[in-house]
Amino acid sequence: MTEEIVVIPGDGIGAEVLPVAVDVLGAVGDFEFVRANAGDAVAAETGTPLPEETRAAAESADATLFGAAGETAADVVLPLRAAVDSFVNVRPARAYPGVEAVKPETDVVFLRENSEGVYGGHEATIADGVATTTRVITREATERLAEYACEFAPEGFTIAHKANVMRESDGLFLETVERVAEERGVPTEAELMDAMATHLVQSPEDYHTVVCPNLAGDVLSDLAAGLVGGLGLLPSANVGPERALFEPVHGSAPDIAGEGVANPTAAVLSAAMLLEFFDYDEEAQRARDAVEHVLAEGPRTPDVGGEATTEEMGAALADRL
Ligand code: NAI
Ligand code: MG
Repeated sequence: MTEEIVVIPGDGIGAEVLPVAVDVLGAVGDFEFVRANAGDAVAAETGTPLPEETRAAAESADATLFGAAGETAADVVLPLRAAVDSFVNVRPARAYPGVEAVKPETDVVFLRENSEGVYGGHEATIADGVATTTRVITREATERLAEYACEFAPEGFTIAHKANVMRESDGLFLETVERVAEERGVPTEAELMDAMATHLVQSPEDYHTVVCPNLAGDVLSDLAAGLVGGLGLLPSANVGPERALFEPVHGSAPDIAGEGVANPTAAVLSAAMLLEFFDYDEEAQRARDAVEHVLAEGPRTPDVGGEATTEEMGAALADRL
């Protein structure tokens, strides 16, 4: 069967790194690519950052590969994640031989709640100078996340929370994840998310899988990117019950956009996660091996200590495949 993949390059370096990821998919698998677009440039052209046909394409395709959006990111990424009914954002962070890392021993996967928390869109300015955000945690969304975590890490995981202050919302989050894990015989450890930030920097080897509410997962995974050598290395999968959306963790990087020097690693590793989602495990491993080889031997882009362009690194990946 040929899976249909919607490809949404987006803005800035999103559009520069995505072709490399599509080439990798094309080299190892038999996919039908459907082009669509979204982001700042689309908004400037059409008046809306996420055209309905793009959203609908993501909603019906087997999977979607997305680059990055710029200022309109929240108007693009959140509805796209909702279009695939994503309940978990899987974000692995690990160091690679050949890439200077603050903590080379880092090898941790964040399972971030992906549909609610403070990113649920419940914001208001209730008076001049007074703005509010309503943080929503539901038992249903938390159970889906926890069930996924138990299958993902049957050996156990760490729960990041702040239930000592947000007693109701994170109280429900913590209690729900702990209950689901206990029912399945999966060991868990709970840790306050602020203390975890310190602990993660000092001893990343203490963590393998971290289950967290939405905002905490966003922040802690970017922190982990800093430990392993930068945002150019972190892929992600927004997983739903039937389909999924894959995207690098990074944004459109306006500081380097247009220079052709963005690191395609995060995008290619996102493509590898897509392959795994369809159980093409061997193909996913080939893609990862190629990335590891090129990061170790070069050519590398400037963010990871090299002088190569995105295209040169892409060509080396293609050669290796
Ligand atoms: P960013 O991830 O775009 O960039 C942060 C820093 O990391 C920059 O110095 C950038 O050059 C570097 N960087 C990121 N990816 C890289 C790569 N592949 N290769 C080499 N260097 C890389 O985050 P920032 O600067 O906070 O946001 C820029 C824009 O992106 C904003 O408009 C923001 O709204 C948007 N954004 C979009 C996201 C998405 O579409 N999912 C996620 C995060 C930010
Ligand atoms: Mg982020």
